[in-house]
Amino acid sequence: MLMEQELMTIKNNAVSLILDAGSEKELQEIKLQFLGKSGALTVALKEITKLPQESRPEIGKLANEVKKIIEESIENATQNFKSKKIEKIKKIDVTEPGIRPALGHLHLVTQAIEEITTIFEKIGFTRVSYPEIEYDWYAFEALNFPENHPARDDWETFFIDQTPDPKKGPILLTPHTSSGQIREMEKQVALQKQHGNDISIRMLNIAKTYRRQSDASHVPMFHQFETLVVGKDISITHLKGVLDYFVKSYFGESRKSRIRPYHFQFTEPSFETDVSCGVCNGKGCKLCKEGWLELGGAGMVHPNVLQNCGLDPKKYKGFASGWGVERVLTMKEGLKLDDIRMLYSNNIEFLEQF
Ligand code: PHE
Repeated sequence: MLMEQELMTIKNNAVSLILDAGSEKELQEIKLQFLGKSGALTVALKEITKLPQESRPEIGKLANEVKKIIEESIENATQNFKSKKIEKIKKIDVTEPGIRPALGHLHLVTQAIEEITTIFEKIGFTRVSYPEIEYDWYAFEALNFPENHPARDDWETFFIDQTPDPKKGPILLTPHTSSGQIREMEKQVALQKQHGNDISIRMLNIAKTYRRQSDASHVPMFHQFETLVVGKDISITHLKGVLDYFVKSYFGESRKSRIRPYHFQFTEPSFETDVSCGVCNGKGCKLCKEGWLELGGAGMVHPNVLQNCGLDPKKYKGFASGWGVERVLTMKEGLKLDDIRMLYSNNIEFLEQF
């Protein structure tokens, strides 16, 4: 019994000294003091041989446990001091190269939108923003679409399941930025009524557009940039000039532009606009076939559209264009995307390249 008590006292003393130790050196001293040749535990172990035979195994076991506890406590405390030392060194090593935080960048579509905005702002266009959730009036009706036009079918357009407005009709996700033409002209006509000024519009509407389509070359949400210029003497010349300016600014000085006849409900005449191919310089190659790449639609604002917005078509003329952001972006970069949906897949390995 006495021996047992002695062993417990040794253990308690050792552990409390270890906990109080202030350095690795002190720990070494404590080790000697208990486990060294004439250490307290070593001496106590020798005493065991003097005990009666039958109590030796039990006391021997206890003594070994005490030894183990002291050894492990010293080892743990030593490791603690070692890692603290490393930490200290780390803190003061000012020469160690820092860990840089990973820098992100804007999405490539956002980059294109910013570039397009800067190009048009230089020639006096003002960027506007209009609703993505629109009334039929702005997306179709005021743009001179007949009632049975296929784009109004819900096969093409996303309709919102809500009671239609008695005047402006059903609610939908705008399938093109041309809805902004109507919004802009209505706004300017209202301002004119207040201030009596002449109407002069140079609008750039860049926005998300939605159509029911999803395959390798279509995404259900994409971006368009729409220009609208309205004034007293606006003609096709202005349209061609702005088109050419944009093509040279965005794709490069050596590129050419052209307009071809086409049809849109809300422009008359209407055009398809093209840019000369950058690969073959307009000579014709595998990519473009005949030297030209299609940019998108444009035209002179239809008199019915001007009238729908309260403008007198005899007094005012205008032109408009609506081109795809993703389209010009992939054309410019010469990106051969197998699947356009890649742009919106949030795949970091893809996005990091831009
Ligand atoms: N809104 C047309 C489209 O989405 C493009 C366009 C805009 C055409 C302006 C003419 C004038 O295809």
